[in-house]
Amino acid sequence: MSVHKEIKRITTHTLQEFKDGGIKIAMLTAYDFSMARIIDSAGIDVILVGDSASNVMAGHETTLPITLDQMIYHASSVVRGVSRALVVVDLPFGSYQGNSRLALESAIRIMKESGAHAVKMEGGAEIKESVERILTAGIPVMGHLGLTPQSIYKFGTYTVRAKEEEEANKLIRDAKLLEQSGCFAIVLEKIPAHLATAVSEELHIPTIGIGAGGGTDGQVLVAHDMLGINKEFKPRFLRRYLNLFDEVQGAVKQYVEDIKARDFPNKEEQY
Ligand code: KIV
Repeated sequence: MSVHKEIKRITTHTLQEFKDGGIKIAMLTAYDFSMARIIDSAGIDVILVGDSASNVMAGHETTLPITLDQMIYHASSVVRGVSRALVVVDLPFGSYQGNSRLALESAIRIMKESGAHAVKMEGGAEIKESVERILTAGIPVMGHLGLTPQSIYKFGTYTVRAKEEEEANKLIRDAKLLEQSGCFAIVLEKIPAHLATAVSEELHIPTIGIGAGGGTDGQVLVAHDMLGINKEFKPRFLRRYLNLFDEVQGAVKQYVEDIKARDFPNKEEQY
């Protein structure tokens, strides 16, 4: 029997059961009702309302400009389209860093105003206090280590992280700390596969990788990337399942041609 048929609603506990049972976790981003409905109906386990909305929905160069209000708008749209997946929402840049009280306030706003099921935050030791404070309100927290795009101006580039021993050891320490602090899962972004595998074996909670190889407990991609809506973004880790940019462009070209040629609407397409 398929996993999807057995489960009514994915919870953080289901994800732990998946890890314990050796079942891989499938996660994708969504930012709006219609896409969330399609993705949810296809049997995805987790939908991430990522702050990548700043890039793919709003056209910003980084994830930094998106606001808490905008994240709540995206998240509430997604929640209305989902009946099975766990919906996790990124706390955006500026809504939690360096202030655990602000972090709790922001997390409460997301849960209350969007109806989502969990929040995600970037960072290790520096967010420990915030993770613990948010958990006191009963809000599940997903961690995010490795390439953390909200710190892009600290890193300077989007290249693979933790290739050197010192940074790899810090990442392992941070992963254990996030687990001890109560995170229910951790995203590992763009780190060497052997490191992601070692972290995944070491931790009890699930890891979800993006550009981190096949040894993590699950995988996540940005939906716009895997559907080929972004043509320019071609990192090695990305598998494209569609070429939607060309498909949509082709359809729109045809529509324009049909109108110009007075072919649309025809007699059957009018009242
Ligand atoms: O914002 C996002 O889409 C993310 C994923 C890349 C993990 O954080």
